[in-house]
Amino acid sequence: MTGSPCAVAERLRARAGPGSVLARAPGRVNLVGEHTDYNDGFVLPAAIDRSTWVAARRRDDAKLVLRSDDLGETVTVDLAAPGEGPRRDWSDYPHGLARALLAAGVPVPGADVRIASEVPLGAGLSSSAALLVATGRALLGLAGTAMEPSELAVRCREAENEFVGTRSGIMDPMAALLCERGSALLLDCRSLGHRPVALPGHLRIVVCNSSVRHELASGEYNLRRAQCEEGVAALARANPAIEALRDATPEDLEAVRDSLDPVVFRRCRHVLAENRRVSSCASALESGDLARVASLLADSHASLRDDFEVSCPELDLLVELASGLPGVHGSRMTGGGFGGCTVQLVESGAVDAFRHRVAAAYRRETGRIPEILACEASAGAALDPVPA
Ligand code: GLA
Repeated sequence: MTGSPCAVAERLRARAGPGSVLARAPGRVNLVGEHTDYNDGFVLPAAIDRSTWVAARRRDDAKLVLRSDDLGETVTVDLAAPGEGPRRDWSDYPHGLARALLAAGVPVPGADVRIASEVPLGAGLSSSAALLVATGRALLGLAGTAMEPSELAVRCREAENEFVGTRSGIMDPMAALLCERGSALLLDCRSLGHRPVALPGHLRIVVCNSSVRHELASGEYNLRRAQCEEGVAALARANPAIEALRDATPEDLEAVRDSLDPVVFRRCRHVLAENRRVSSCASALESGDLARVASLLADSHASLRDDFEVSCPELDLLVELASGLPGVHGSRMTGGGFGGCTVQLVESGAVDAFRHRVAAAYRRETGRIPEILACEASAGAALDPVPA
């Protein structure tokens, strides 16, 4: 996708034609709180200034004609055909979301839907949640139906879990919907309570894409979820009030250690410590204690590498290269793991030198060229963000 965000949006609207609605939803990075969302825990993501745009125009029939401008592909699905299942491609996201909205009672009309995205695909920046959320805002706009953002986030998760078939948590759609400009979003993934945490204005969120995507990723993600569930079952036998890892203390975990597989013990130890790091990091950001932020991000990375075992050599290398550089206040892997990106908080004046040094060293060591994006923390999804 080329051109400024407004040029992307205007081109899309022009192609979609009169009477269309236009929606935008951003990608995200997670500053801290990894693999905690499906354990009813806490996360601290920020939306980035790279978005997915969806233009939709009502049709007279019940068909969704889905057009990806980036892929040059068109897929037509019939919302009146209840048995029409997933095709195992990009169209499953908008199609699954339309069906989830219909199941929730929204009168989703047939529509011509055009999609264009600036969010890198498959890099762990949540391009899938951006597509789900932007589609949701556009279809709700066409249907003239209001929906609370947290309810739309639940519908997006439902579409991804049940139609697309990926067991992701609630963090990504909540971030794409509710983040505010200049802030991260402190989110309780059980109550869905949330508040913005302002980021110091002199910092940039720098994302380094390792350009690695291990094929293991989704199988290993599901295995981590199962291991967490195994830990909860053992904790609940000792204390029935524990319904999720979110409810357990380190002492609870220590008390059942002998009954747990050592791998399951380490998975649970990561989640318990990571939940605590989220609130500590929010406080440290708010009090401007950037040394503490850096140390919490370093602990998070070590725990994901050693206890949760979702890092990989390329992510470890990027963190090692970034951590020693001037103006860097923290570095760690971000997202599900097994490739994808690292996130860094970097003084704005130090970003160019950072980019140069990390790119050169990473290329020397791995032969790969990392994509390095300097991002601003951005606002969540919006309908009709550009005047017609
Ligand atoms: C993926 C999932 C999220 C979350 C992260 C790990 O990005 O989509 O729901 O579980 O992994 O924190």
